[in-house]
Amino acid sequence: MERQRNPVKVKVIPDHHKGKISKYIYSHFAENLGRGFYEGIWVGRNSEIPQADGIRLDVANALKELELACMRLPGGNFADNYHWQDGIGPEADRPVRYNANWGAVDSNAFGTHEYIRFCEMIGAEPYFCANVGSGTVEEARAWVEYCNVREDTALTRLRAANGHKEPFNVKFWGVGNEMWGCGGKMTPEYYSDVFKRYAFYMRITDPGIKLVLSGSHGMLEDWDEIVLQKTYKSDLVDLLGFHAYFGNMPDLTYSDDQYLSIVSQIRSMKKKLTRATGLCRAYSTYGRPIKVAFDEWGTWFKEGFADLTRLEQQSSMLNGVFTALAFHVFHEFNEELYMANGSETVNVLQALILTDREKMCLTPTYYIYKMFKVHKDGIAVETRTEAPSLRIGDSEQAPAVSVSASRAEDGTRLHVSLVNISLSDEQEVELSIKDFPEAFAAHAELLYADQVRHHNKPGEREQVRLQPLELRQDGNLLRFILPPHSVAVVSCQL
Ligand code: AHR
Repeated sequence: MERQRNPVKVKVIPDHHKGKISKYIYSHFAENLGRGFYEGIWVGRNSEIPQADGIRLDVANALKELELACMRLPGGNFADNYHWQDGIGPEADRPVRYNANWGAVDSNAFGTHEYIRFCEMIGAEPYFCANVGSGTVEEARAWVEYCNVREDTALTRLRAANGHKEPFNVKFWGVGNEMWGCGGKMTPEYYSDVFKRYAFYMRITDPGIKLVLSGSHGMLEDWDEIVLQKTYKSDLVDLLGFHAYFGNMPDLTYSDDQYLSIVSQIRSMKKKLTRATGLCRAYSTYGRPIKVAFDEWGTWFKEGFADLTRLEQQSSMLNGVFTALAFHVFHEFNEELYMANGSETVNVLQALILTDREKMCLTPTYYIYKMFKVHKDGIAVETRTEAPSLRIGDSEQAPAVSVSASRAEDGTRLHVSLVNISLSDEQEVELSIKDFPEAFAAHAELLYADQVRHHNKPGEREQVRLQPLELRQDGNLLRFILPPHSVAVVSCQL
């Protein structure tokens, strides 16, 4: 390991505000896919794995610590093949259905009441995605009534009979998922009309809900523009749902160049978000502001494609670096990027948690969410960084250290996150805070692994660990060392 000769200089300017960081960018996505729901979250009320109401406690307790703002479920592709009435009432009476998207049998034991219980246990708001692909308008509208209406109706009596007299008040509702693909291979013109029918009846059932228009993954030339153009005047669109996955490499045996390519993939993520937020801004002029919900994002490696009924992959320190860099990009979008849901929560794709029967482990991605939650609802502030530059592609360079900072709304705390992208060089950092010579670090954490390909496995000693970061106060500078491929968060009292 080599140390760069000149220290990296980071200057934070807390009074130069760049807009609010929406708490909802720290949200997640779980789907009934492979071991995502069954085994990963739901083990059943008779399981010997410690559980409450059938939901595994180790997973729920770990997720609670992340203070995720919102949890999107039950899909994904699964949503457009899901009939919510199958998942309510006594468990023994629920029909077993074929989960056609993911080639599995679904007992329906984990349904609406259990989704809500899970969200309550982890402290996240639920975001349900309605079935537009194979469902009906009335089915989607009735789900809103069952969940949110207070008045005495047959459906709300049914909710009470099933154990919940009070409404669930589900605020966010997706109107289908990836309608250009597994949501029914629709054209944008056709979906726009379908959206308006569904959204209209969902909205009149509960005028307070926020509706998500199904957008693209940034590579379908005109989808986003056409669906926005055809729906924005309806006053029914609150959010454009947008998806993108990154990787195109093995989960653990990637080359150094492939690792570095993750930085250029982050740049392409930023371009996609710039376009999506720009379109939403353009179509917000009619009155109702439309923002972006990046409601599926993450890595999808070659192993994730190997078994298309499970989408399982390992998660090395590369995922930690990738996630931290992605959050730095999200912080730049102000509230125009209103929500972002990492994909997916347990055992699927870039999971936060992996389980193996009664054992579980926390991935590097989990730890980044844990470290970065301090930025939630903060005011992004200006930073200036002088760092060596790194070759990340044949003709591409990037600064070796990425920095993002936010100030708590009450102005008392400042949080600075830093990523050392270099695989070989540790960086000595000199951090200063303009106009706050007396600011002192209250807390500093480092996510680090001896080797970038290190990863955690259920039941084994952690190879990627969160640890205290040693800081040295030197006049009005804070000095510390960032090892290669590491992520740190320094929190200061102002
Ligand atoms: O996350 C896996 C799948 O990827 C989702 O079900 C779908 O929305 C996306 O294409």
